Amino acid sequence: MYLRLENISKCFNSFVANDNISFSVDAGKIHGILGENGAGKTTLMNIISGLYQPDSGKIYLEDKPVKITSPNAAIKLGIGMIYQHFMLVPKLTVTENIILGRENSWSLNLEEKQQEIAALSQAYGLEINPTDKIENLPVGTQQRVEIIKVLYRQAQLLILDEPTAVLTPTEVKLLINILRQLAAAGKTIIFISHKLEEVINLCDTVTVIRRGKVVATTTAKEVTSQQLAELMVGREVVLQVNKSAFVPGKVIVSVQNLSVVNDRNIPAIRNVSFELRAGEILGIAGVDGNGQRELADAMAGLKTINKGKIELNNSCTHQKIGYIPENRQKMGLVLQFSIAQNLILNTFKNLPFCRTFLLQPSAIKNHAQVAMQEFDIRATGEDIKVSQLSGGNQQKVVLARELAGEPNLIIAMQPTRGLDVGATSAVHSQLLAQRDRGAAILYISTELEEVMAMSDRIAVIYRGEFVAILDAQTATIEEIGLLMAGGTRRG
Ligand SMILES: Nc1ncnc2c1ncn2[C@@H]1O[C@H](COP(=O)(O)OP(=O)(O)OP(=O)(O)O)[C@@H](O)[C@H]1O
Ligand SMILES: [Mg+2]
Repeated sequence: MYLRLENISKCFNSFVANDNISFSVDAGKIHGILGENGAGKTTLMNIISGLYQPDSGKIYLEDKPVKITSPNAAIKLGIGMIYQHFMLVPKLTVTENIILGRENSWSLNLEEKQQEIAALSQAYGLEINPTDKIENLPVGTQQRVEIIKVLYRQAQLLILDEPTAVLTPTEVKLLINILRQLAAAGKTIIFISHKLEEVINLCDTVTVIRRGKVVATTTAKEVTSQQLAELMVGREVVLQVNKSAFVPGKVIVSVQNLSVVNDRNIPAIRNVSFELRAGEILGIAGVDGNGQRELADAMAGLKTINKGKIELNNSCTHQKIGYIPENRQKMGLVLQFSIAQNLILNTFKNLPFCRTFLLQPSAIKNHAQVAMQEFDIRATGEDIKVSQLSGGNQQKVVLARELAGEPNLIIAMQPTRGLDVGATSAVHSQLLAQRDRGAAILYISTELEEVMAMSDRIAVIYRGEFVAILDAQTATIEEIGLLMAGGTRRG
């Protein structure tokens, strides 16, 4: 066994995040960890990578007990945690990021390092250019840099916590190939994902955690997605989206010849026109980075329009727009505020939360408790800081706030990113209920299957233009896939 955990437990105050967790992984194998949002996956990985100390239990590497006292100690033991893009310094190059903190500057030969890194990346099929600046690289490439960084530090065990959540389908395929190669080269890998098919397809073995406890460890080939989902949640789950008939109402928003530039002043949305009606979900299908972000921001009134206009129906004021931004930590939440405070960021000046300029703690608390129940936000109380929530539960806080108050227009960008199967299906149902109530919904996602299942009409975006608007009932995945890749429209 390369890695073995024996009865690892970890509490945060009275809350048990990890409860007697045991499992082991052979060298050269890929082990999946599955579990609902808040099940304790990241906490466990933070223990293995030395960020947290367990309250009890033992960790063995190659059958020898080890104490992983700090992230640095973990690196010395050959444990490499692959963080997502935010751990890299954007202004520095690939090479500089990889060697950061490892080399003495007085003896540094940058060219030599670049060659060393190029060789390392080639050996594992990780294509990168050592002299590129991080800020110019797509997310998938930044992640490759993170992987090379831990390989450069001689990691034997690689931990990836939801690495595919931010990747496009093509990038996911590339990553999966890379992980297979690493395993074939003898590296041991721990892989966390909410996408069950991915886990079944990639992993040799899987451990399922529910509310801090191991409920099953199995070989991935032996189980179906349905079985895994049920193990995670502890009850039956519906993996399909069930939608009622499409009954479009009045036009809620009319977009005419819209053009918007991105942060670097480059045209990102070009001459886009469409109408969105009450009771309708318009899906936006496209490869990440084709203008989706700028479209969402412009629709939410957060971005200057360079040309054209966005006309809202009289009934739809800015207060009546719900916006689920792509990046919950940067745009959706104030991490140092509590759940209750985050839930009223848009409405704290209104009744019942504020009366004659005074905040009303009991109304705020009550509101939070109801929302936590409705959206299944798992936390010990409404007063805990959002920074202490698991990733998926942070996303649920944004959803609970933005879907409150019956918005006329909902702009949802990657609304299920980081959510477990149960929560994903709950968000689908919630958005469909909003549609049936009469909300107009712009549904932006890079997951084509999700867009197809949720939408009434689908606009395909390519290089900032709508190359087609299709009826979701008749559109095929092949047709949309082709259009997304820049192909032209049939007929
Ligand atoms: N530093 C902390 N202080 C208090 N509670 C914490 C802390 N870190 C995690 N928790 C709690 O421990 C539980 C497990 O969180 P963890 O992040 O491990 O979940 P997860 O399985 O990774 O979920 P997700 O799929 O949403 O990422 C959560 O309820 C979370 O609120
Ligand atoms: Mg997590």
